[in-house]
Amino acid sequence: MIIVLRNLIFLFSFICLGSSQSIPKHGHRLVGGWMPKDIDYEPAKDNAKYAAKLINDQSNDMYFQNLIHIHDVKSQVVGGVKYNITFDMSKTICRKNEIDSDKPEQCVPDRNATIKRCYAVVYERPWESKRQLLDHKCNNHLSYSEYFNDTNIAREQEYQQNRKMNLLIEHFT
Ligand SMILES: *[C@@H]1O[C@H](CO)[C@@H](O)[C@H](O)[C@H]1NC(C)=O
Ligand SMILES: *[C@@H]1O[C@H](CO)[C@@H](O)[C@H](O)[C@H]1NC(C)=O
Ligand SMILES: *[C@@H]1O[C@H](CO)[C@@H](O)[C@H](O)[C@H]1NC(C)=O
Repeated sequence: MIIVLRNLIFLFSFICLGSSQSIPKHGHRLVGGWMPKDIDYEPAKDNAKYAAKLINDQSNDMYFQNLIHIHDVKSQVVGGVKYNITFDMSKTICRKNEIDSDKPEQCVPDRNATIKRCYAVVYERPWESKRQLLDHKCNNHLSYSEYFNDTNIAREQEYQQNRKMNLLIEHFT
């Protein structure tokens, strides 16, 4: 059972943290509008991790919450770049004061906990090394068993396939 779950987690992190290249966008959209971005786009992953870290720092829960999946990313150019990232967080079995912050993936989700779906708006000005969490919110999403359920995983994979296809279509039209 544990191995199956670990594989599911691995599958999930593979889906979301895989190394496929981001799809560059051309300027056919209105400047200043929100544009969808690949969930594998490095700055988006990096900003999701940054937001997840702040969410942990701000929470008074004793247990560490891990970023388990990026669901959606949008960005907007406004001086710097704003990212609005939707991602899923799970409480883990690691206490915050026990985790090796370089290896958060060693902290497995707490199977009794509810997976949260969060969004975070991060404003970044890379040339000034400036980054700010402008807004964020987390809501209870699904129980562990509902989330790591084949049906839900298939639904999420389909959502991501459609997203990838739409990004490609936009890129070539
Ligand atoms: C970011 O996305 C969330 C969820 O879709 C939405 O509720 C929120 O208004 C968005 N924030 C901005 C600044 O667009
Ligand atoms: C989850 O709940 C079960 C049954 O209530 C309990 O035995 C177990 O210790 C809990 N696990 C964690 C990680 O809290
Ligand atoms: C997953 O969820 C579906 C629908 O909610 C349910 O019918 C199915 O039994 C669940 N499967 C597992 C493996 O929990």
